Amino acid sequence: DWTTGNVIEEQVARIRAQIGDGKVICALSGGVDSAVAGALVQRAVGDQLTCVFVDHGLLRAGEAEQVEKDFVAATGVKLHVVDAVQRFADALDGVSDPEQKRKIIGREFIRVFEQAARDVVAAEGAAGGEVRFLVQGTLYPDVVESGGGTGAATIKSHHNVGGLPDDLAFELVEPLRALFKDEVRAVGVQLGLPEAMVHRQPFPGPGLAIRIVGAVTPQRLEILRAADAIARAELTAAGLDREIWQCPVVLLADVRSVGVQGDGRTYGHPVVLRPVSSEDAMTADWTRLPYDVLARISTRITNEVPEVNRVVLDVTSKPPGTIEWE
Ligand code: XMP
Repeated sequence: DWTTGNVIEEQVARIRAQIGDGKVICALSGGVDSAVAGALVQRAVGDQLTCVFVDHGLLRAGEAEQVEKDFVAATGVKLHVVDAVQRFADALDGVSDPEQKRKIIGREFIRVFEQAARDVVAAEGAAGGEVRFLVQGTLYPDVVESGGGTGAATIKSHHNVGGLPDDLAFELVEPLRALFKDEVRAVGVQLGLPEAMVHRQPFPGPGLAIRIVGAVTPQRLEILRAADAIARAELTAAGLDREIWQCPVVLLADVRSVGVQGDGRTYGHPVVLRPVSSEDAMTADWTRLPYDVLARISTRITNEVPEVNRVVLDVTSKPPGTIEWE
């Protein structure tokens, strides 16, 4: 019968049988699935695994550190970090269109990961091992969905790792293929992964770039990161994390409004809080957050983030709104 311990033992045995004494590579995104998949493979084959983390500079406050420090400390995984912050900033320079942002980020991600994979393959090859396997954090619902083919129009192009060139052909290792999200989280907890990683709410691959309405700049990312960290901290402190599916914080970077602070006039930007309740992100309702929690978030953001002088609440369900603003 199903216990988390059984799942781990069974998957560890399967991974060992599949990989043997081969070498394996895993891309970490900062999210739950890749972290748990990587940790399982690490448990099974130890240093035969190299994890790769592409830091594109579009994660929220603390998330890159979570991968580079806490995840490594918890698992002992061998990690190859690529600092691609400047590269992504250059590629996104002046781009405001949401689909254009997604395409650029998807393209750059593949290129950077490809190079990182080549570097790992070369290093491991020099050490006498061939890298033949790639870990993917595919879950059961992904397996079902990709077999479905509803023919529905693409509303937003979601990007994931895939589409590697032929000379980088790896055999896939997918230790989460039989699991649902809550089971993946239970496995993550059992493996001792960082709390914040295991319970991370859904976060889009293109990251904060699609939560800045307007062009992405390092300054705007910094503003959004500060506002988002406050909203997250207050929602967590209020014990609301499990009730909310996710709560994007969106910076309306091209909008300015007049405000007053102390004796002075301000001319700053609004941020939008987008708390939603959902089962699967296909449909969603806006979450009726307690007014006192909203008040604390608003007061803190406008006090602590000088560029933001207005906090607004999105009360649109999906449909007609999508969860993200872009
Ligand atoms: P929307 O905005 O379409 O979002 O209602 C539905 C869910 O998907 C996430 N999302 C993305 N995830 N790449 C991703 O990996 C993307 O480009 C992307 N766009 C939206 C969103 O956060 C929500 O959970």
